[in-house]
Amino acid sequence: MNDLDQLVAAASADFAAAPTPAELENAKARFLGKAGRVTELLKGLAALSPEQKKTRGAEINQTKQRIEAALTARRAALAEAELEAQLRAEALDVTLPGRQRGVGGLHPVSRTMERIEAIFGSMGFDVADGPEIETDWMSFTALNNPENHPARSMQDTFYVDMKDEGGRWYNLRPHTSPMQVRYARAHAAKYAGMDTMPEIRVIAPGRTYRVDSDATHSPMFHQCEGLWIGENVSFKDLKVVFTEFCRKFFESEDLQLRFRPSFFPFTEPSAEIDIAFASGPLKGKWLEVAGSGQVHPNVVRNFGLDPERYIGFAFGMGPDRLAMLRYGVNDLRLFFENDLRFLRQFN
Ligand code: PHE
Repeated sequence: MNDLDQLVAAASADFAAAPTPAELENAKARFLGKAGRVTELLKGLAALSPEQKKTRGAEINQTKQRIEAALTARRAALAEAELEAQLRAEALDVTLPGRQRGVGGLHPVSRTMERIEAIFGSMGFDVADGPEIETDWMSFTALNNPENHPARSMQDTFYVDMKDEGGRWYNLRPHTSPMQVRYARAHAAKYAGMDTMPEIRVIAPGRTYRVDSDATHSPMFHQCEGLWIGENVSFKDLKVVFTEFCRKFFESEDLQLRFRPSFFPFTEPSAEIDIAFASGPLKGKWLEVAGSGQVHPNVVRNFGLDPERYIGFAFGMGPDRLAMLRYGVNDLRLFFENDLRFLRQFN
């Protein structure tokens, strides 16, 4: 191997040893740069005869080309290696299943509320909403439940650390019945002074609160109030409407209803409404689903209406209870623990 072959071999070895493009450029300078080994060789030509210059010059040129070729090859190899590394680092495993966005769904109680609204809506009932923090008058007094009357203990509620103008504590409404008063008063005010008033036909679903907690009671629960007031609305209408509602809600034509005498200060007469399924696991068992009755004249008066002219009925049902029956859930608390394993079953 002559000195020129050795130079090519040395350059190739240096290039191969350069791990990065930057270091390769440094190696290039050592051989092909201004002060590089090839340039040194060319400078040596000056001392040679014209004849020798020609041969030696051609040999050096060839050497330079071989070194340049080695450099080009190494540059390409490094670029390829870099690309490979990048591809490997950014590799996507296309066989991995994609990440799916969780599909949300309505809570079973919300579904039940929507179902109640749709059925009563189809029977011409408006849907109203009202405050959960109520005055004493709305929750009790207006509903013919006087201050200090023992019937108030039927709805043992929570009180809010705030008093109304009359000096009475605000309460977390123990039932949706205050919505009868709020809605009817607004309705009566709207038609005050006119000869006739359209009937009041409304349901008011929402959250309610009581000091109660076991498998069938939660301190926060839901109710849906219903009110139908007109000049000629009777208990018979309540029976028709509520029977129709239950049969539609449970999709069961042979469902039985029983109106069992009861007491509420705001209705007279009053009845608990029980239902019994004609088939299924609960067949033949009477299950209480609502309280109801003909609205008491004192309450009609508090609506701002004349009880001699206006009459009708009200009912209050428990959507949580209805959801339990419809879905076969035996512990009410499951609805409010928000365990996704439980809730997912309804979607
Ligand atoms: N508000 C009563 C309760 O919570 C239910 C009810 C509503 C009864 C309307 C009669 C009429 O128990």
